[in-house]
Parts: sequence; C-alpha cells; structure tokens
Amino acid sequence: MTDAPEHAVLQLAVLVGSLRAQSFSRKIAKALAARAPDSVRCRFVEIGELPLYNEDLDGDSPPATWATFRAAIRECDAVLFVTPEYNRSIPGCLKNALDVGSRPSGKSVFKGLPAGVVSVSPGKIGAFGSNQALRQTFVFLDMPVMQQPEAYIGSVAELLDDKGAVTNADTAAFLENFMAGLESWIRRVHPGGSSFDAFMKQREKIAEDYVNGDPTSLKAIVTHAGPATFFSPRGDHLEGAEAVAGRYERDAASFHRGGSTDLEVLQASASGDLAFWTGLQHAKTRMGRNGEATEMTLRVTEVFRLEDGGFKLVHRHADPVH
Ligand SMILES: Cc1cc2nc3c(=O)[nH]c(=O)nc-3n(C[C@H](O)[C@H](O)[C@H](O)COP(=O)(O)O)c2cc1C
Repeated sequence: MTDAPEHAVLQLAVLVGSLRAQSFSRKIAKALAARAPDSVRCRFVEIGELPLYNEDLDGDSPPATWATFRAAIRECDAVLFVTPEYNRSIPGCLKNALDVGSRPSGKSVFKGLPAGVVSVSPGKIGAFGSNQALRQTFVFLDMPVMQQPEAYIGSVAELLDDKGAVTNADTAAFLENFMAGLESWIRRVHPGGSSFDAFMKQREKIAEDYVNGDPTSLKAIVTHAGPATFFSPRGDHLEGAEAVAGRYERDAASFHRGGSTDLEVLQASASGDLAFWTGLQHAKTRMGRNGEATEMTLRVTEVFRLEDGGFKLVHRHADPVH
C-alpha cells in the first residue's frame, strides 16, 4: 500500500515467552535487540498481565490490557519471538498472547506479520520442541516465518555472565548475524512494510470507535502540538491543534453505538516525517436524537506527521460523495 522510504525504520515487536525476572530468554532477547541493525527498532511488548483468553470477555469492552497489547502489535511491522520450552512446547503465557492477538475472529493483529523465532534453554537441545510448536501456530495465524538461520540457543547458562551479557564470542556473532538476516528477510517478504502500514490498520479501528461515539482512540493520534487543519463534510473548516481536537471530540458525540466503517485506501505514502492516505470512507452510522441509521460515503484525505515516534493527524479533509 505504501511507497516506503528505502531505509524506513522497521518496528519489530519482541515477545518473550517467560515471565520470570531472571529469565534467560529475556537476556537473550535483550542481547538480540542490542545487536539489531540501526534500521530496526525493537519494541518489547509485555504479555505477563494479559488475562487468560476468554471469548466471553471479548465483547464491546474487552480487558484494557488486551486492547493495549493488540494496539502495540498493530503498530509493528514484524514480530520476534524469544521463548523457552515448557514440556516440549511453548509456555502458556506465550500461547495466551497469541490467542489474545488473534481474536476477535477476522481482526487478528498477527495476520500477515513476518515472524522470527529464537528458542532458549539451559538444556542441550535448545528448546527445539517449543521452536517447532510455535512455528505450527503460524500456519493458522497466517504469519510467514524466517526459515534460515534457525536459532536454538542451548546450554544458555554457560553463554551469559551474571549481568546477562553474552560472554561467548561465537554466540554474540551468531545473534548479530541472526538480526541482520531477519531484517533483510522481513524487507524481502514484506517490502511495503513500514510503520505507516501498521499505523493504517490501527487508523481503521480508530475510525470504527469514532462512528460508535467514542473519540478516545482518535484523541491519542490527533496532534496537540503543531499546525492542524480540518475541512469538514459540512463545508466549513478549522485551523489550530486545540480547535481541531475539540471539534473531533464534539462531532463524535453525534454518533450512537452500532456504527461501522471501512476505509477504502486509494493511495497512501510515507516519507520521512510525513505520511498521507486518500480514498473513501464508507460508514453506516446511527445519528440524531433517535439514532437513525444513516449510510454515507466520504471522500477523505488525511495527513500525518511523526511526533514522539508516533503518527499524529495534522490534516483531515472529508466531503460527502453523492
Ligand atoms: C513448567 C516447565 C517445563 C519445562 N519444560 C522444559 C522442556 O520441555 N524443555 C527444556 O529444555 N526445558 C524445560 N524447562 C526448563 C526451562 O528450560 C528453564 O526453566 C528455563 O530457564 C526457562 O526459561 P527462562 O530462563 O527464559 O525463564 C521447563 C521449565 C518449566 C518451569
């Protein structure tokens, strides 16, 4: 979708399959992150606080930690799993994170994301069983996974000092080589991948919240710093970050629950600090005093600027297509 700049920084989610403080897997994950190429930003996404997946909780207001986890993965281009082995398979906490991210049905945040796997064990066979079990889940999650190099870190206790630093030069070189290989493989299988692609998946969800009367998620991506403009479907326009942010909030209040929306992106691009998309927004909403069902299609252009590492909405133009 996006003409990604050649050296756009890849956002790599790192999921660690162990919750214990002195986890060898986390130490190896940190060693990998420290050896990532400059063009890869590793983001440790925590899984320890996610309640066990229960479909009954996954309605209109799922647990906040699930929403935060899903949003974090949506912002990333790829996922690196660093995991121990429990009883020849993956630890329950990691399986739970996969289950949480994969639902609701049709809205999996993992779908299509490239994955890398590193398995870790104090034992000699390097958690081979968990490495393979994890790969099995990628079939249904629809995640392409790097095949080579494979990474089974065995006898891990002998490779680290008491501060968690890798003492073995061959292992250090292997980890560095793994990260370089992972980056070039991700860029090969996912050439359009950029953080803006990931952001646009999130944008669609934010639009859905908005047409259900909830401006909270939009508020988080609206600029509060710089110049901002909004050309509204009513034909008027506003300038200034605070004025525009306030207007979005007020307009959201005109929608009742029960709305839905799709963004039909006709063109999108990101370059340096700026990004845009243009296309059609199809919405089914419930508006007015009685919540009457209304269908509308808007012709939309939105411009975003990177602020504090995230895309912020600085311009929106929307007019109705008749
Ligand atoms: C419930 C449980 C099951 C385990 N099963 C295996 C196993 O199948 N294979 C293995 O190599 N190690 C197994 N171990 C040992 C772990 O490899 C070891 O505890 C390791 O340090 C856990 O990873 P961490 O240091 O990242 O927490 C198991 C540990 C636990 C707690």
